[in-house]
Amino acid sequence: MDPDALHAKVVNQYAEHINPGLARLMNFAGFGVEIRAEGCYMFDQDGKKYLDCLGGYGVFALGHRHPKIVEAVKAQLDQMPLSGKTFFNAKQGALAEKLAQISPGGLQFTFFSNSGAEAVEAALKFAKMATGRAKIVSTEGSYHGKTLGALATTGREKYRKPFEPLMPGVEFVPFGNTEQALAAIDTTTACMIIEVIQGEGGVHVAPPGYLSAIRERCDKTGVLLIVDEVQTGMGRTGRMFGCEHDGISPDILTLAKALGGGVMPIGATMGTEAVWDKVFGVNPLIHTSTFGGNPLACAAGLAAIQVIEDESLVQRAAETGTFLMSALESLAPKHDLIKEVRGKGLLIGVEFAIDDVGELVMAQLVKRGMVAAYTLNNPRVIRIEPPLIITKEQAEWAVATFDDAVAETSELLATLV
Ligand SMILES: Cc1ncc(COP(=O)(O)O)c(C=O)c1O
Repeated sequence: MDPDALHAKVVNQYAEHINPGLARLMNFAGFGVEIRAEGCYMFDQDGKKYLDCLGGYGVFALGHRHPKIVEAVKAQLDQMPLSGKTFFNAKQGALAEKLAQISPGGLQFTFFSNSGAEAVEAALKFAKMATGRAKIVSTEGSYHGKTLGALATTGREKYRKPFEPLMPGVEFVPFGNTEQALAAIDTTTACMIIEVIQGEGGVHVAPPGYLSAIRERCDKTGVLLIVDEVQTGMGRTGRMFGCEHDGISPDILTLAKALGGGVMPIGATMGTEAVWDKVFGVNPLIHTSTFGGNPLACAAGLAAIQVIEDESLVQRAAETGTFLMSALESLAPKHDLIKEVRGKGLLIGVEFAIDDVGELVMAQLVKRGMVAAYTLNNPRVIRIEPPLIITKEQAEWAVATFDDAVAETSELLATLV
């Protein structure tokens, strides 16, 4: 089909059968139809190449279609793609064992699901059951997913309000404020759920000492600490798990996105023996998922960890992240529009001085062949979250392109005043 006709047809299908508002937004941003992807690049209907500096919001840590993941998934596809759910599943066993080996502290057990929100749902249920308590402490600006339980702990009114009453007992504290977090955690609290970097919230990094103070308070009050690493896990921040920067280990840890190697969807909720005893010790079927832990997803997860280790991607994320952060910071004095650059490893946010500029810069980037996106809870912030395999040359190109895109956005805004 002619590329323009294909684009028009898909936009129309979105408008008529998926989501008219989203179709308009995506069309305004200049997004094409994704046809193919490889490594750090995506290609649209015209064959135009884009450097993927969003990486599917963290999914494509290993880039697109990493050959080792594709090979592992193809082999599994020929053997047994989905689990019959009655016999033991060797791939699930192997991935759970591997995750226990590479994760911090005593996170010995894993429950597998299919997405980040599902991983969070399980975490919240486990915390409630293990403690017999109902109160949950979360943070303002947080993002834990949009299913009802996860949504109840997501710190953005806009997404919660239309669905209230949600799960009761959730108290929000400002992210990064130690005093208010410690005051909220008491002996009626089941858990505190927190991200080490608020990704969707606008790339806010937990200040030094914050997480360890929370860990200590949780220990004193018998409260379980859930660290949501759906976005920060698997090397993204320059450590395999983001919480390692602070030297803490949670009672429950959630993973998804990058764990599937950019090829399969997967969610994982890890927990300590103490938590598992109190949950599955009572009833081994208390929480289940038909597709969770399927052999295809677990084969992808195993291969993904192997690639992260073999290609030293955690270290690469740290090194390329340091380069990218300082290169982006050096643009700030040139552009009044750039207010702040922040992040860790390859999870970087650029905050603009004016509302809604994120969307305009995003459109300018797409025009130039680079994909990045503004954050869901904070549209002033553009998120730069490329595959961990991005090369120095690609990162340099991304910075130069970002520079041009911000410059043209400033010119455009000047004509509007
Ligand atoms: C920290 C965090 N938790 C949970 C989720 C929800 O994941 P999913 O969209 O796979 O349900 C996200 C998604 O962006 C996330 O960033």
